[in-house]
Amino acid sequence: MLQTKVDELVALSKTESSLIKIAAKLHIPVEACLAIASVLEKAGVVQINYPINILEPPRIVFFGLPKIEKKEEEIHEKSQNILSTYTFKADNVPVSVEIIDFAQYKFYSMSLIELSVATKLFLDQVKESLIKEVPPESSDVADVEKMLAIKKSFYEKIKTELIKYSLGSEVTEILAGLLLHRMFGLGELDLLNKDDMLEEIAINNSKDPVVVYHRKYGWLKTNIYMPDETSIFNYASQIARRVGRQIATLTPILDARLETGDRVCATLSPISSHGNTITIRRFARVPWTIISLIQEPAHTMNFEMAAMLWQAFHYEMNLFVIGGTASGKTSALNALASFIPPNQRIITIEDTRELMLPKHQWNWVPLLTRLPNPEGQGEITMLDLMVTSLRMRPDRIIVGEIRKQREAEVALEAMHTGHSVYSTFHSDTAAQAIRRLTTPPISLPPSDLDSIHLLVVQFRDRRRNLRRTLEIAEIPEGTGEGILEPNIIYRWRPRTDTWEKISEPIRFYKEMNLHTGMTKEQIEKDNKKRQTILKWMAKNKIVQIDEVGKIFSLYYSNPDELYEIAEKNLSV
Ligand SMILES: Nc1ncnc2c1ncn2[C@@H]1O[C@H](COP(=O)(O)OP(=O)(O)OP(=O)(O)O)[C@@H](O)[C@H]1O
Ligand SMILES: [Mg+2]
Repeated sequence: MLQTKVDELVALSKTESSLIKIAAKLHIPVEACLAIASVLEKAGVVQINYPINILEPPRIVFFGLPKIEKKEEEIHEKSQNILSTYTFKADNVPVSVEIIDFAQYKFYSMSLIELSVATKLFLDQVKESLIKEVPPESSDVADVEKMLAIKKSFYEKIKTELIKYSLGSEVTEILAGLLLHRMFGLGELDLLNKDDMLEEIAINNSKDPVVVYHRKYGWLKTNIYMPDETSIFNYASQIARRVGRQIATLTPILDARLETGDRVCATLSPISSHGNTITIRRFARVPWTIISLIQEPAHTMNFEMAAMLWQAFHYEMNLFVIGGTASGKTSALNALASFIPPNQRIITIEDTRELMLPKHQWNWVPLLTRLPNPEGQGEITMLDLMVTSLRMRPDRIIVGEIRKQREAEVALEAMHTGHSVYSTFHSDTAAQAIRRLTTPPISLPPSDLDSIHLLVVQFRDRRRNLRRTLEIAEIPEGTGEGILEPNIIYRWRPRTDTWEKISEPIRFYKEMNLHTGMTKEQIEKDNKKRQTILKWMAKNKIVQIDEVGKIFSLYYSNPDELYEIAEKNLSV
């Protein structure tokens, strides 16, 4: 429970009535003490008596605290197995989470910091006096940036008000955050949205609890409920409006990507027969880097594979990251993009800003598609942007995801005209990707496919909640005859959770040799050196995107020196 000066004042007022003495004991100015007492007087907790002799200071007399019935909480029997507890902050307010293992399911219990009765009453009164200042319709502003600006200025107002009471900076921050949540209509759902351990937040209807997908524990029931079907609908429409769309009886499905990168899918009853639904896929706030992908807990690929991909990015090979839904394609591609040398011009093309490049890549132009407006005008497609990008003299083009025939064709055209192209593509294995790319509806000619040098296959083991690079494969140089079979270089073995090199690369060596003149042995040695650098980075916790980017940019200006430093440091 949060202890505040308000509680101290209430406790003191039971035995001491001199305002001056109370203020001294609380270590706050007399005016601040009087201000707190005045708020508490409105709440009926204390009385302020002004003596007849006006030279004497007022006296504070304890009046009484109402008994607030404790809300019936979901109290779990002590025998339940608590798997984990942690806290995170939402607008400075500490939120605590307990993950509990029930026999049939796992449970996510979220609670805000608890306030005493006196502080609660105090805060209610402060809220009353501030309420007139809440901008009308503030929670309904369509423009996100505008809304954030309003929220920020209002937060400042709350803080200015609270500072009058000298409650101390920490308590002031927490109370200001709490007031902001209450007055700005941030529901519990918004609190969930601040927990970076959550990948997905789903509302199935108003009768069942909100469920979440936790990075570590998978699907969990929560102690949060939506009050009714209308609130779910309202929340969905609010999201729709923010992205200039609408959800209604005639258009009961909303599929939207928010500016934050989060993806939202909502459906209305009776399409979803148990009630209205909203599924939010949260965008990773801290971008993955090659080091965070290699290290535990992700452990998605090993150093040798990462070093090979580094060579591929260095020497401009084209590469697709493929895999199933949410297997980590975009995250892997984003992490790999840091391998691009810093003096190159990079153009990224996506539906929403998911890709984030390190600062050292200073010649980066991110482009974004746009949906048509409700009248059907103004659409900018992936294809429009791909064609445009070719006129912007890029060295490397990163396309968020290729879905359609024309997009695939333009990607190949770009490769043929000497650009390096990277993208993601939905399919489960390298062999399946080749099949899907060469048959309808994509129908690329098999003989053209060899412009793509490498395929990195991402895989998500839902049962064990693991994400692994399943395969790194080459597309063989096509003759255009027969079925193209990928050359699988690395494959993940699920049973042992390790990777095996199952065949030697062919094209990869050829391509490396073409660019550098290195022999197979030299290329292998170069791979080892890069591994040393990656291991050194991991050992020294160089994980954050800009730090990782900086090391790679150092590598490109002075590879040998960096290698020597890494090797020396690793051997101690
Ligand atoms: N290697 C990994 N280990 C653990 N979590 C990961 C890993 N890669 C990605 N994630 C998480 O998985 C979720 C989905 O990742 P991502 O968006 O990269 O997948 P995707 O395959 O591109 O999905 P989609 O099919 O929707 O495009 C994100 O929350 C991300 O942070
Ligand atoms: Mg993706």
